[in-house]
Amino acid sequence: MGFKITKNTKTRFNDVDWNNLRFGVYFSDHIFISKYKDGKWDDGELVPYGGMTMEPGLCTLHYGQTIFEGLKAFRRTDGNGANLFRPDMNAKRLNRSASLVCIPNYDLPRLIDGMKELVKLDNKFIPKHKGQSLYLRPVVYGSGNFLGVTASAEYTLIVMTSPVASYYAAGLNPVKIMVSDDHVRAVKGGLGAAKTAANYAASLYAGMEAHRKGFSQVLWLDGVNRKDIDEVGAMNMMFVIDGELITPSLEKGTVLAGVTRDTVLTLAHEWGMKVSERDISIDEVVDAHANGKLSEAFGTGTAAVISPVGQLTYKGKDMIINDMKIGPISQKFYDTITGIQYGEAEDKHHWNQHITF
Ligand code: COI
Repeated sequence: MGFKITKNTKTRFNDVDWNNLRFGVYFSDHIFISKYKDGKWDDGELVPYGGMTMEPGLCTLHYGQTIFEGLKAFRRTDGNGANLFRPDMNAKRLNRSASLVCIPNYDLPRLIDGMKELVKLDNKFIPKHKGQSLYLRPVVYGSGNFLGVTASAEYTLIVMTSPVASYYAAGLNPVKIMVSDDHVRAVKGGLGAAKTAANYAASLYAGMEAHRKGFSQVLWLDGVNRKDIDEVGAMNMMFVIDGELITPSLEKGTVLAGVTRDTVLTLAHEWGMKVSERDISIDEVVDAHANGKLSEAFGTGTAAVISPVGQLTYKGKDMIINDMKIGPISQKFYDTITGIQYGEAEDKHHWNQHITF
């Protein structure tokens, strides 16, 4: 698919502090943009990254009709271009999120082609170091201007990119997580399975409280009984109990269907591990910890990749997991997934889409 390209006249490359990238602080030169009007999406084009005008009546500012995605392009270690990791999964999830908040679906091949073209155009922004990548952030929002509570008739899809390092300042070091039993992120019948702004707004209050107390993130429990584990806002959760890999199932619709979650589950099955996608309560985790059966816990996410959890705190009681060290299973998932992403290990499942430049 060919796209109209309007190039930036001045690059943003030199504004980037390449020695201190962090996460989502810098943006590259161009975006992919497409608009929906009169019942259809236009073809999309690549234009310079920059300020956008909006009216005070922009419906998304008022009612949050917006969804987003996150995926990464990795500079291959062998110097042969870049790998975009599982963009088909993110594109499908974008449309699932869209349906949940009444946004019209986007043509998946067109979105994937637009993203690849964008990575190709801004390839100099793909960081050179392992552990770093070019993060792609597709976002779709209602772009109509009105105050009635109703779905917009007009939408804008944008894909921006950002050279990034680890999501957590701690990198691959185990993080401390606070289990919240007073705030909730999502409830059955709600928007928990959608990557939509409301879920992230709902996480801010407890997240601030957790940060103040020295935790990296909040672990959310189910919104009704506050017992079953849902997820950590930026990651799905995995527990290794008695050698079994356990993660909350997606059935209730309160958990995001993570791409890294799916990658880990696929590898775990392939390695012959005992794997369960099922309800797991915080009480089960507390008991397993008390009985010495909880050997590892880790989060999975595109931004976080694999993030070992070294401490879980529930009702003021600290559970230290694997002596606050990364465990062998978490390490194996991290090494295998990043090996595939940087083109160092065999990509049996054809998860990478290769981009040459
Ligand atoms: C991701 O892993 O891509 C996320 O969206 C998590 C967070 C940065 C919102």
